[in-house]
Amino acid sequence: MAKDKTAFVCSECGYDSPKWAGRCPSCGRWNTMKEFTVSAEPKPSASTRAAAALGGTGRQRGAVRLAAIDAAAEPRMAMPDAELNRVLGGGLVPGSLTLIGGEPGIGKSTLLLQTALALGCRVLYVSGEESERQIKLRADRIGTPRGDLMLLCETRLDEIFAQIKQVQPDIVVVDSIQTIYLDGLENSPGSVTQIRECAAALLKYAKESGVPVLLVGHITKDGTIAGPKILEHIVDTVLQFEGDRHYLYRILRSIKNRFGSTAELGIYEMCGSGLRSVDNPSELLLTRENSELSGTAVAAALEGFRPFLIETQALVSSAAYGTPQRTVTGFDLRRLNMLLAVLEKRVGFKIMQKDVFLNIAGGLRVSDPAIDLSVIAAVLSSNVDTAIGSDVCMAGEVGLSGEIRPVTRIAQRIAEAEKLGFKRMLVPAGSIKGLEQQPRNMELVPVARVEEALRQLFG
Ligand code: TYD
Ligand code: MG
Repeated sequence: MAKDKTAFVCSECGYDSPKWAGRCPSCGRWNTMKEFTVSAEPKPSASTRAAAALGGTGRQRGAVRLAAIDAAAEPRMAMPDAELNRVLGGGLVPGSLTLIGGEPGIGKSTLLLQTALALGCRVLYVSGEESERQIKLRADRIGTPRGDLMLLCETRLDEIFAQIKQVQPDIVVVDSIQTIYLDGLENSPGSVTQIRECAAALLKYAKESGVPVLLVGHITKDGTIAGPKILEHIVDTVLQFEGDRHYLYRILRSIKNRFGSTAELGIYEMCGSGLRSVDNPSELLLTRENSELSGTAVAAALEGFRPFLIETQALVSSAAYGTPQRTVTGFDLRRLNMLLAVLEKRVGFKIMQKDVFLNIAGGLRVSDPAIDLSVIAAVLSSNVDTAIGSDVCMAGEVGLSGEIRPVTRIAQRIAEAEKLGFKRMLVPAGSIKGLEQQPRNMELVPVARVEEALRQLFG
């Protein structure tokens, strides 16, 4: 009888080698090689298991001429809520494997259960984490099933495939990939090999049957999806569910999407009866209550293709110690330092000996450079202790020489600001040249330089 062997697999890239190494020869990371025992008996591979479980041998296919493939016939399954549809790029693609990642307690199970309940088809909801009773209790909070929802509390993949064969679902949900395992692999559930093999088997099943599979994936402390990076390579779509647990809203972001854009964003609010999709994010992100206080400025930002107005708050005070503090929430610290340097150099405000705290309201992380102008405005507003009018908003990227650079999709930003009742909006002079339509109820103030913008705001 052959002896069992030991292999070392990199937890980052999945590289395996018979020898241990401090540094992975493939991806170059340190301390990522983990030891696994490989049983000497040959085991059916993940794909043959999936095929066998489904009673087929897998389709044998040769090369196909590109012109002969009918892509127009790709139907999408509409999801019950608009946010999920948007993030998926217009619905779930049949035969796709989608991974939803997020920190514990953020609402991944709630989102998927809620979706399963609202879908009008047969859904198999596999949970390796909760009992049937727990899921039922949660489902009762959310609502009654519209279609045919089948629950399965199981962690063995072979058994899951056996149930899939029996139930013949239209959609399969697996909560979570880290809890399920394949018999015969020596490693415990959640290990690199288990995750890789289970995901490969589910992918094979999805592709062959045309049934979309949704996977839940946990996130490690450093914010990456637990398990090897290769999980992200295997699946078609990776959605990240994020948000601050102290805030009620959650953001669903597309990180990878083989069938759509990754610029999309879905916003939800956690309520007593599940997640509510937020159609108008500005209403949630603008507090407007403290608008008469200094240090706040409203930016017309864009995330994906969605415009929304968001409040930037700054607090500037004299540095208590030698080195001034710079603290940011939801914004890039280096970018703040750059903007402060621009303020100092171009406008002549002595801000370098001050502590500066910056906060993007709502715990949202914005990467849109068009909020630069509002950051500068909020910092100055706090510094001179003068409030900016509550009906003023702005958009503009600030360059190193203090110029205000054009931003993308200005018409959409203007329309959103007007819809929300703003009366005055500072826009980059370069952006409004090509503008076809002027807003009816709002004044546009074109600004080309930071000094000009500040003069408009503070006189
Ligand atoms: P859960 O969906 O289990 O998160 P995950 O699967 O990502 O770990 O947890 C969601 C949290 O939301 C939990 O702390 C309870 C809360 N919650 C609500 O506020 N309202 C609800 O209707 C439900 C079902 C959960
Ligand atoms: Mg869960």
